[in-house]
Amino acid sequence: MVVLVTGGAGYIGSHTVVELLKSGYDVVVLDNLSNSSAESLLRVEKITGRKLEFVHADIRERRKLDELFRQYDFSAVIHFAGLKAVGESVAEPLRYYDNNVGGTITLCQAMEAAGVFRLVFSSSATVYGEPEQMPILENFTVGGVTNPYGRSKWIIEQVLEDLSCADPRWSIALLRYFNPVGAHESGMIGEDPDGVPNNLLPYITQVAVGRLQQLSVFGDDYSTKDGTGVRDYIHVCDLASGHVKALDFLENHNGAQVWNLGTGHGYSVLDMVHAFEEVSGCKVDYKIEPRRTGDIGECWSDPSKARRELGWQAQRSLHTMMADAWRWQQQNPHGYEHS
Ligand code: NAD
Ligand code: WQD
Repeated sequence: MVVLVTGGAGYIGSHTVVELLKSGYDVVVLDNLSNSSAESLLRVEKITGRKLEFVHADIRERRKLDELFRQYDFSAVIHFAGLKAVGESVAEPLRYYDNNVGGTITLCQAMEAAGVFRLVFSSSATVYGEPEQMPILENFTVGGVTNPYGRSKWIIEQVLEDLSCADPRWSIALLRYFNPVGAHESGMIGEDPDGVPNNLLPYITQVAVGRLQQLSVFGDDYSTKDGTGVRDYIHVCDLASGHVKALDFLENHNGAQVWNLGTGHGYSVLDMVHAFEEVSGCKVDYKIEPRRTGDIGECWSDPSKARRELGWQAQRSLHTMMADAWRWQQQNPHGYEHS
């Protein structure tokens, strides 16, 4: 079975391609490399000992998509392609809606024309906004999102739900990721943020490796155990295996369905700093700063729906997340381009 993976050269996409190849799928990656390097895919081939096809294109290029759908008999599409920087989305909303929402619509139009109706979509826990209760279940209210990036995910979810109502041939998995971290155990692929990282763990590892001076901890006055923000960090390889489970599920189920992909555990910023220090043996210099605009105090999942329905559960511990993130950072101190 051949699967089209949009955005497959990126962080979560490349780890998922490893899982797909290991599970026997053939893979075609379509990526415009706007936030990634094709080097990741060469490394995926090294890790798995298998070949994949790479198409350098944009999901908004309808003609290229049609060509691709004629060329391959895809059984499904896993759709990672999207822009994901929250701050950038506030400054450039049109670019975000065009790329994420517009791109997804073009992709679905091409799928429909080609008779391919199986889709796994990268959504985000951000669609829950600031829930009143923890842990977060899939049936919690969504949409209280404060930035265009998050809103683009919420809009896409609704578009895909409408699509599945209009035409029962669609089978769609909406996967709401919590906070993906870590890297493949080989240290060969991992997260390679452009410029100064927005996310916590890449920031910590870049301080440890000497690329950045000091971590700013955004707020110590939340009502959490130590006052710093709490999140549900999930190993990217666990997240990747969730996609393969969702693909299996879609073979026998139509409609659009939602699953949380998280561990069900919350860790604070200081938990993360201390766990990293313990695993790496490096001290992470940090200072407490004011809260970051738009941040919430805590966010963690109830992942039991995915366990029940997909037979999926995160396996890797916080220790493993740290060890793998650190191995990737040490082996590739400047990411893919200069390692
Ligand atoms: P990433 O930036 O590493 O990967 C996204 C990939 O999509 C990149 O390779 C980029 O070049 C490509 N891309 C972007 N726009 C494209 C377009 N128009 N056409 C073709 N390719 C395009 O990001 P990631 O962390 O791997 O995230 C993958 C998906 O998961 C994204 O949709 C993101 O919004 C979503 N997500 C990520 C997180 C996270 O914290 N990393 C959390 C929740 C959801
Ligand atoms: C985690 C915690 C920060 C950096 C973001 C997006 C979300 C999703 C995942 C895609 C928070 C604190 C962080 C730093 C810090 N992406 N922090 N110093 O904010 O939960 O989610 O990425 O869908 O949409 O909003 O993740 O890693 O940025 O922050 O203190 O330098 O670390 O305040 O408590 P977040 P994060």
